[in-house]
Formats: sequence, C-alpha cells, structure tokens
Amino acid sequence: MDKETICVVGGGIMGRGIAYVAALGGYSVRLVDVSKERLEAARLDIERMLDAGRVRGKVTDVDATAALGRLSLHTDLKKGAAPAGCVIEAVPELLEVKVATFERLSDYCSRDALLATNTSALSITEIASSVALPERVLGMHFFNPVPKMKLLEIVRGLETDDEAVAAAAEIGRRMGKETVTIHESPGFVTTRMNALIGNEAFYMLQEGVATAEEIDRAVRLGLNHPMGPLEMVDLVGLDTRLSILKHLHATLGEKYRPCPLLVKYVKAGRLGRKAGRGVYDYSRE
Ligand code: NAI
Repeated sequence: MDKETICVVGGGIMGRGIAYVAALGGYSVRLVDVSKERLEAARLDIERMLDAGRVRGKVTDVDATAALGRLSLHTDLKKGAAPAGCVIEAVPELLEVKVATFERLSDYCSRDALLATNTSALSITEIASSVALPERVLGMHFFNPVPKMKLLEIVRGLETDDEAVAAAAEIGRRMGKETVTIHESPGFVTTRMNALIGNEAFYMLQEGVATAEEIDRAVRLGLNHPMGPLEMVDLVGLDTRLSILKHLHATLGEKYRPCPLLVKYVKAGRLGRKAGRGVYDYSRE
C-alpha cells in the first residue's frame, strides 16, 4: 500500500475532476472505469483542464507534464485499487452499485487504505457496512466542477474513526480544498440545500411562474448565487439530481418529492449538459 497513490473509481464528470486535482496534488493517480471509452475521454478532459490551467497561469508546464505522467487508466478494479493508500469512488449514485464496489474494494485493498465515496446523498454507514473495516470508510464529497470548487465536505459514518477523517483532510488540503467535517445525514449540508432549491425552481417552471432564464436570472442577481438553480441542475445532471431527490424524499419526507417536470425531462433523455440538452439546449456548443 502506498500513501502517495490514490485510486479514483468512475471516470465520469466527477471522477475525472478528482483525478485531476489529485494528480496536481502530487499523488500517483489510478483512474478506473468499466468503460474504456470513458477512460479515454477522461484522459482527454484532464489534458484539456491542464492546458486551461496553464493558459490561466495556475499550472506550470513542469507540473502539468508531471501530473499527466502520474496518471494511469484501468478497467480492472483489482489492478487499479490494490496499490492505493486511498480509494475515492465516483460511480453512479445507486446504492447497489456503490455497495458492490465497496465489497470488492474491501477484498482488494490493504487494511490501512482509506475508502472514500463521493456520494451526494447516500448513507456512508450503509455503504461501509459492506466492508471489513468500516472505520476506514468516509464520504469525501467534492463539488462540480472539481478544479474550481473550493469545498470538500468530509462525512463521517457511524464507525468512521478520527484517523480516517484526519487523513482525508490532509488529502483534501493537498488537492487545494478547504474542508468541513459533518456527521452523516441524508444529503449532508450542501446536497440537501441544493436539491431543495433546484426542485423548487422546477416547480416554478412547471407552474409557469417564469421562464427558465428568468428564474435563473432572479436567483443570480437577487440572491447573489453565482449560478441559477436550473443552470446548476444541467451541470449536475438531471438523472443524478432525480436519484438524489428520490433518496431525500424517502428519508426526509414530503418536502423533497421530485417535481413531475424533472421526472419527465429525465424520461425524455434531457439529462443536462452531458446529454447536450437539459433545461437548456447545448447542442450548438
Ligand atoms: P457520471 O455518470 O458522469 O460518471 C460515472 C462513471 O462511473 C461513468 O464513467 C461510468 O462508466 C462509471 N461506472 C459505472 N459503474 C462502474 C463500476 N462498477 N466501476 C467503475 N466505474 C463505473 O456520474 P458523476 O456525475 O461523475 O457522479 C458520480 C458520483 O459523484 C455520484 O455518486 C454523484 O452523486 C456524485 N456527485 C456528482 C456531482 C455532479 O455534479 N455530477 C457532484 C457531487 C457528487
């Protein structure tokens, strides 16, 4: 087990961002995904992020080349995760997929390895119940886009020990993040708040209170949010947001019932930026 090696499982929107900040933080990064195409797309995206960092003067040529040299891609979870001192899981927001992944990680990884999930809302305690050492399991909740967003929410499950929290905070620091540590509760602090605001925006859109552009403008200019709630849900992914709301509805009650219009958009395949269309149309970008 090497403390300087981080394995990121899932090379989607979040996984590739986490791999990027980890590589720039000096870690050897092993990015794992079931899809070879996703891995290749992730590598291209990471190269693009490094170039953008260079153009903005935030990343030197030497650091960018070194970061890319420390990145490896794997479709085999065992190969990717076994040498890592820390694994950060970013597979889709489905409890059964996460639990199955952690069961396998528990078999493949060293007993000392830190096992983290980037879940937006699921129970760390429930995910940890599938591994041999639940005290080494916690939530490391990054935000989208990972390179830009300052916060890392560290979430303690029932059994998480102080050493695991300290190790996660140090990893976050090296990735350039500021951390808050919270106790597990559905949706933590940020997801719970964000899901409620986004769902309310969908209800307003459904009721015809205003257009999507006007709802977003009102929230940006009147409440000083950097992004409107409907632009935000397009960035997050409407399918991801729907999964989150279903979980919050089941655990916290009626106030989180997913708006029918959101459900309809997901059925239509309008999943947000990643699909080229969500609340807004991105097909010409
Ligand atoms: P995504 O759908 O963009 O990426 C998921 C990736 O996981 C895909 O590349 C898929 O091929 C891969 N995958 C699926 N099953 C796998 C398996 N068994 N082993 C390895 N790879 C597998 O999803 P996204 O948006 O990156 O979300 C990932 C996690 O991060 C979710 O838990 C989500 O709730 C959380 N999250 C998402 C945020 C967002 O804004 N999208 C923000 C914060 C957290």
